[in-house]
Amino acid sequence: MASDGYRVGVVGATGAVGSTMLRVLAERGFPAAEVVAFASQRSAGAKVGFDGAELECRPLTPDAVEGLDLVLSSAGGSVSAEWAPKLVEAGAVVVDNTSFWRMHDDVPLVVAEVNPEALDGHRGIVANPNCSAMQMLVALAPIHRAVGIERIVVSTYQPVSGTGRRAMEELEAQTHAILHDKEPPAPEIYPHRIAFNVLPQVETFRQGDDYTTEERKMMAETRKILGATEDELKVSDTCVRVPVLMGESESVNVQTREPLTPEECRALLSQAPGVVVVDSPSDGVYPLASEAAGRDEVLVGRVRRDPSHERCLNLWIVGDNLRKGAATNAVQLAELLHARGLIRRAEEPVRA
Ligand SMILES: NC(=O)c1ccc[n+]([C@@H]2O[C@H](COP(=O)([O-])OP(=O)(O)OC[C@H]3O[C@@H](n4cnc5c(N)ncnc54)[C@H](OP(=O)(O)O)[C@@H]3O)[C@@H](O)[C@H]2O)c1
Repeated sequence: MASDGYRVGVVGATGAVGSTMLRVLAERGFPAAEVVAFASQRSAGAKVGFDGAELECRPLTPDAVEGLDLVLSSAGGSVSAEWAPKLVEAGAVVVDNTSFWRMHDDVPLVVAEVNPEALDGHRGIVANPNCSAMQMLVALAPIHRAVGIERIVVSTYQPVSGTGRRAMEELEAQTHAILHDKEPPAPEIYPHRIAFNVLPQVETFRQGDDYTTEERKMMAETRKILGATEDELKVSDTCVRVPVLMGESESVNVQTREPLTPEECRALLSQAPGVVVVDSPSDGVYPLASEAAGRDEVLVGRVRRDPSHERCLNLWIVGDNLRKGAATNAVQLAELLHARGLIRRAEEPVRA
């Protein structure tokens, strides 16, 4: 690190997550001497905002990535597959926000409040989890630590910002057309119209699989982050796309090993880092996507006993997918790496 801070790259700087990363880096005062914005060739020369100034976007080239200490990357799996090893080779530590590296054995998958110790053995690439698993685990890890969790059944209600900038434009254009009695533009990003609709499909179905890639990621990443095998922790999920711009909601049924009352659960979560309990349903007070948007904490409410099982609770968990679900956690990981002296050239870099 230069005496005045790190040289930080943000890859995907024009995107929904990348632009939020720039905002969060500035808000939290990460010790950066310089921030370099990268996007695709299409955006070469385009300007993005950072800390009241404008940065000019560059394409990724071997010369442009020389001398970076830290890179926050969110430009899609294929860009990370190719560029993360090159960035590590060039001396940077990469916090990668795509799914490409998350399940790789040599890559820590880390939620800042849950398993920060996993960063210690990193080999150049650190993965930022899927937004749905991330917000759920901020709320569930304290329960798991206190009484153990043996089974999770979750349904997600995911906003279009989770698919990126073009998906937000698709929802807005379709909604505008319908509200003005016009034929909505045909779907391009989603398989069906998203405006005034609910799609029980997030991402894609692989040949022969009844679950989507998003559902598979959420199940696998939940176990990796909590360090549990399939036998130790059962997870079942349904991921749903809803016509909301920001903020992901989740209906979670959790079966604990030891008994836990709703009151004990609220008390536990009210002490948990990164969690705010919002739970007075008869007053109309519960977590809302509109209230989580723009916040870094995960909101938890509707905590109640599942009448069908004595060791099950139901919870409603809401977070900002672009902040805690992506950018804020990435910057928290950068802060943890800095605090632990882990922003340095990897001696034995990860290989694909
Ligand atoms: N959105 C979320 O809530 C969320 C949460 C967790 C993880 N993620 C993951 O984060 C990644 C980005 O998501 P997003 O929602 O921010 O998508 P997005 O809004 O579509 O942005 C994609 C970004 O990647 C850039 N890019 C594309 N090809 C590139 C290349 N060859 N070299 C350099 N930059 C390139 C784009 O630049 P141009 O503008 O030049 O095209 C843009 O800045 C995805 O892998 C996604 O799965 C997203």
